[in-house]
Amino acid sequence: MTTRPSLLDRSRQSVWHPCTQMKQHEELPLLPIARGEGPWLIDADGKRYLDAISSWWVNLFGHCHPYINQRLREQLDKLEHVMLAGFTHEPVVQLSEALSALTGHALGHAFYASDGASATEIALKMSVHAWRNQGQPAKTGFLSLAGSYHGETIGALAVTDIPLFRDAYAPLIRAGACVPSPDARQAQPGETARDVALRAAQALEAWLAEHHAKTAALILEPLVQCATGMAMHDPEYLRRARALCDQYQVHLIADEIAVGCGRTGRFFACEAAGIWPDFLCLSKGISGGYLPLSLVLSTDAIYQAFYADDLSRGFLHSHSYTGNPLACTAALATLELFRTEHVLESLPQRASWLAQAAEPLAAHPAVQAPPATGDDPGF
Ligand SMILES: Cc1ncc(COP(=O)(O)O)c(C=O)c1O
Repeated sequence: MTTRPSLLDRSRQSVWHPCTQMKQHEELPLLPIARGEGPWLIDADGKRYLDAISSWWVNLFGHCHPYINQRLREQLDKLEHVMLAGFTHEPVVQLSEALSALTGHALGHAFYASDGASATEIALKMSVHAWRNQGQPAKTGFLSLAGSYHGETIGALAVTDIPLFRDAYAPLIRAGACVPSPDARQAQPGETARDVALRAAQALEAWLAEHHAKTAALILEPLVQCATGMAMHDPEYLRRARALCDQYQVHLIADEIAVGCGRTGRFFACEAAGIWPDFLCLSKGISGGYLPLSLVLSTDAIYQAFYADDLSRGFLHSHSYTGNPLACTAALATLELFRTEHVLESLPQRASWLAQAAEPLAAHPAVQAPPATGDDPGF
């Protein structure tokens, strides 16, 4: 009699799991998830796991949320997909208008893709192309922060500073430049997070003064560099970076793929510093963790740099599922939950409740107290 292989064995045989050394699964079992319910992932035997990583930081309001489910069911019976070149539809227009309004219309043009790394690629390409269209073809370089993470595609890896993800592909990756991170953990005794931010801003200024003529954009993760270990910085760094980018004519790309959508207290992390970038990348939480959706918001000045009779001055980038109506509907439902459940207003209370709950951990030898912040970081 032959026994049927388990789901775990079949998965190991047929699914090449992401960001994984598959051999480790000889020892470490995969978790077979059958259902999701609020913060819980539930296996076929009914065992519950708290989804504390929110399924790679994408889920905002829990699994199988009744309202998002209902909105998706309604949209499913109307339109599942249509290409976005030459066509448009209600959910993508509504979503673009809503996001523009959330930026006070500072970033009024939304360009769509599916995964976060695609949004990074789009912002990088748009930046270089905008300079080219504006008669500055030499501005092709990118600058990122030490410890940065912007995704796994070849262009995104060029602005990512995590050797484990990068090194095997070094021959494929375009050389870029890295400036010191304002990571508040680098504070010397007596220094605040703001002091570290000012020091890092000085290094940024020195670099830009020398290289701005060949630099298209600075890309950064505002407030928290997540993949390098949730390295937080003072919002003063963002204000300085914005001013320096203006002074040296370099675009500022804010990668809010992980930190946007309320994760740091405001809807956009940049709001903590009172600045807007030239490009803002969003993904992960924007669809409530339901469907792949990413986008790049940009200013009118950028949009106008592409607006012309000449086809080749246009941004001829595309992905087949760009602006998918179901994904946009999940995003609209997510934005509605933010409004109707007063999510942002309730965050300070939740944050202090979580801080209290974590308080006993502060005495643990592996836990380091954060340096004093010089400003309200927005948490
Ligand atoms: C800041 C940041 N940028 C980009 C990405 C890439 O997004 P994706 O995994 O959807 O390609 C991530 C993913 O974790 C991220 O944290």
